[in-house]
Amino acid sequence: MGLAPLPEFLPFAPPLTGPEEVAEIADTLKSGWLTKGPKSERFEKDLAAYLGAPDSLAVSSGTAALHLALAALGVTEGQGVITTPLTFASTVHAIVYQRATPFLVDIDPLTGNLDPQLTGDFLKNKCRKGPNGRPIHKLTGVTVSALLPVHYGGLPADLKAFWEIAETYNLNLVEDAAHALGSYYGSYLIGDPSLRPPKAPFGLTAFSFYATKNLATGEGGLLTATEPEILAKARVLSAYGISDARKIWGRYAPQGTWVYDVADLGFKYNFTDIQAALGLAQLKKLPEFLAARKERANVWLEALRPLEDLVILPQEPKGTRSSWHLFPLRLNLDRLKIDRDAFITRLKELNIGVSVMFIPIHFHSYYQRSLLYPVGSLPQAEKFFSEEISLPLSPAAPLALIQEAAYLTRSLIESCAR
Ligand SMILES: Cc1ncc(COP(=O)(O)O)c(C=O)c1O
Repeated sequence: MGLAPLPEFLPFAPPLTGPEEVAEIADTLKSGWLTKGPKSERFEKDLAAYLGAPDSLAVSSGTAALHLALAALGVTEGQGVITTPLTFASTVHAIVYQRATPFLVDIDPLTGNLDPQLTGDFLKNKCRKGPNGRPIHKLTGVTVSALLPVHYGGLPADLKAFWEIAETYNLNLVEDAAHALGSYYGSYLIGDPSLRPPKAPFGLTAFSFYATKNLATGEGGLLTATEPEILAKARVLSAYGISDARKIWGRYAPQGTWVYDVADLGFKYNFTDIQAALGLAQLKKLPEFLAARKERANVWLEALRPLEDLVILPQEPKGTRSSWHLFPLRLNLDRLKIDRDAFITRLKELNIGVSVMFIPIHFHSYYQRSLLYPVGSLPQAEKFFSEEISLPLSPAAPLALIQEAAYLTRSLIESCAR
């Protein structure tokens, strides 16, 4: 087939950094404080202000943020957490770190997000009511204690429906917002704790600042919470369990003290001031980054819309706005002569870097050994996976290159039609 590749390779999701990041990092190095310290505290305050939260907790990764959220809520052995199979391993690992049981419920194929209807069905049909209103899973005797939806690709999960379920069954709600910095549910930014209905149980939102994310600190994560006490608990657990975690970095200052108490079995999930330097510089550019992602998403949408019988395009659910962390294109395989893997090979030959988000959790060998979800048991997530290709959206890519890639991709799809 005679398509000419792009003049240069278009990487899938490179970060965009500039002289501002270099200057902030140099400032940190000169400050003499490299681990979690004053700059991390500033980052926590600035991020909280951006999200509309009273406070936030910056930690070493999104995985750490998810783990701390569950640990701070007291999720433990004998308890279960409902989540989605269409996610990165961290979401489910965090549950298992706490020796709790992950319950995988299938996705809504329109968005790729955990399906609230199926979640309700699971609680109604597979569980009986326990003493504190919490559902007990009939087969295992495990008490379901939390919901853990993922805002897949930046498309917000149906939070109204999940909060209603949380209220009905006395469940906590942890949002995996690794992709959703800058996403809106109604008029609320994801991570704004005022989204929670007044009488609902507690909620936490976990972000990731991994190198490919909307705001990149290399590695990094952040939590907001509906209750200051829960965030305070997570803060203690993030710093070995030391009771006055916020003062740790001040202990070498002239007024500091060597005395500390380890009040809990915590973890070492420190954010560092080098990460904070990157984060502060990136936060100033976040509106620009989000606008650039949307602009790139629109290029893909415009180029591929005429092919709507051959592909399924991502859609923002009514009343929501995506941060466009991902552009999950799905191939209508019945109408194409090619499967997803072969299509990716062709895109690579055209110099277009893509990825697949995600290999369903229950396909991984560890979870095949440790969970009771055989292949075939979560059909929507499995079908979604077999059709999905995540296309490049990074603001680091010149718009003209994305435009060229979009039209090349369209020609490739057309050439593969049955
Ligand atoms: C949906 C989802 N959750 C959690 C994480 C974990 O974040 P991190 O890589 O910062 O640990 C990722 C990571 O990429 C992710 O995609």
